Amino acid sequence: MQSVLVVDDEPAVRESLRMLFKRECRVETAEDVESALRAVARAEPDLVLLDVVMPGRSGLELIGELRERGIQTPVIVLTATNTVSVAVEAMKLGAADFVTKPFELEALRLKVRQLLEHRRLAAEVLRLRDEVRERHRFGGMVGRSPIMQDAFRTVERLAQSQVTVLITGESGTGKELAARAIHGESPLAAGPFVAVNCGAIAPNLIESELFGHEKGAFTGANEKRIGRFEKASGGTLFLDEIGDLPAEMQVKLLRALQEREIDRVGSSTPIPVEVRVLTATHRDLEEDVREGRFRADLYYRINVVPMRMPPLRERREDIPLLAEAFLGAGAERIGSGHPPRLSERARAALEEYTWPGNVRELENAIEHGLALSAGGEIDLESLPLAVQRTGQAESLRDEWRQGRLDFDQVVSRFETEILREALERNEWNQTRAADSLGITRRVLKLKMDRFGIESQD
Ligand SMILES: Nc1ncnc2c1ncn2[C@@H]1O[C@H](COP(=O)(O)OP(=O)(O)OP(=O)(O)O)[C@@H](O)[C@H]1O
Ligand SMILES: [Mg+2]
Repeated sequence: MQSVLVVDDEPAVRESLRMLFKRECRVETAEDVESALRAVARAEPDLVLLDVVMPGRSGLELIGELRERGIQTPVIVLTATNTVSVAVEAMKLGAADFVTKPFELEALRLKVRQLLEHRRLAAEVLRLRDEVRERHRFGGMVGRSPIMQDAFRTVERLAQSQVTVLITGESGTGKELAARAIHGESPLAAGPFVAVNCGAIAPNLIESELFGHEKGAFTGANEKRIGRFEKASGGTLFLDEIGDLPAEMQVKLLRALQEREIDRVGSSTPIPVEVRVLTATHRDLEEDVREGRFRADLYYRINVVPMRMPPLRERREDIPLLAEAFLGAGAERIGSGHPPRLSERARAALEEYTWPGNVRELENAIEHGLALSAGGEIDLESLPLAVQRTGQAESLRDEWRQGRLDFDQVVSRFETEILREALERNEWNQTRAADSLGITRRVLKLKMDRFGIESQD
């Protein structure tokens, strides 16, 4: 809980401010500058509410004393004298704000809330940045969750061996990053890291891509070509989407891995290759083996050590940390020293969203936010639509908790959002939208009429 120190010689003022704030923060009181200094020495408050005219030293002197001690706690000055000069002097000394007595309680409450919120966020951001920098980063991978801490240890262990690793995980979970980390932490780090996406190369070209070819090996082979295996010599070859490798290439790859040598296309002189091979797939290879789509012998050969990258929704505690890391990187890229902050609503939505596209989607969402916020605070509205919707669901719940909406209103607003999303996802084709929701088109139409959703086709 945050704490506020009220410094005023009038007991009535101390008491009324204590009543005003006691529900949202801890309130300490002091009757003069000396006892205020003692209170600050005991525990630094998050905010000081400071009277100016008191018996003994003036409240303004306290501001100077605090700053001299390196205490940057914000101060709101309460001044009875209706003169601007005192306020001006207070601001010059570094007060955050001032209110004149008799003050309006609501206005004061708002100021206090804003300052406390600002202070809380600033502290949170500092803490996250520190974490990103110090403890929760390994080979470019960021994460504080136990699962990721485990992954760091696995990377460290695998880096010291030469075994072939199969990295599995949904799209965007950081499989390639993990492969790069294993390489980067290994004795081969000075050698090349060569990545090949087996799913992105035409099946008839993949052999030459991996093993290279001799001049004239096939029509169009006008030059000799060095393959990726040879290029990775002395380093690491990362075979991404290995599950997409055509059957005949699976045999050839198995041979290369077992014999540690390759044949360039059009040559029968084997070339020895010294490479560490790492592989990755987003497919369920075990099932592919059962269904006969992937060779069992190759599967066992590459899956000596499995490594699973967990989806982001299984490690939500990493979200704020990752967001901060991407904000920092984004700010650096556009050359601004101060990464923009996320608003409270934006942060809540990021933590609530399910992230089907995992870390990559989060990275893109932050980029989106950075681009739309133009350097200021990133609010919910500058995040991608899918994330905003989560935030809206959360605010609906809030409004219900606070009694501003009743049950029926919450449910129908929520239903409206789901219907709209299903319609948008299906380009407003009502048949397909209804299908995706598991309802008939007639029911969809009825609901659209009831909730006033107009068709847009
Ligand atoms: N733990 C992490 N810390 C920091 N950045 C991460 C982390 N995990 C992933 N990223 C970033 O997210 C993006 C996606 O990661 P990567 O390309 O490694 O995922 P992938 O699992 O290979 O995805 P795909 O299956 O789609 O190829 C990259 O920009 C990567 O730098
Ligand atoms: Mg990848």
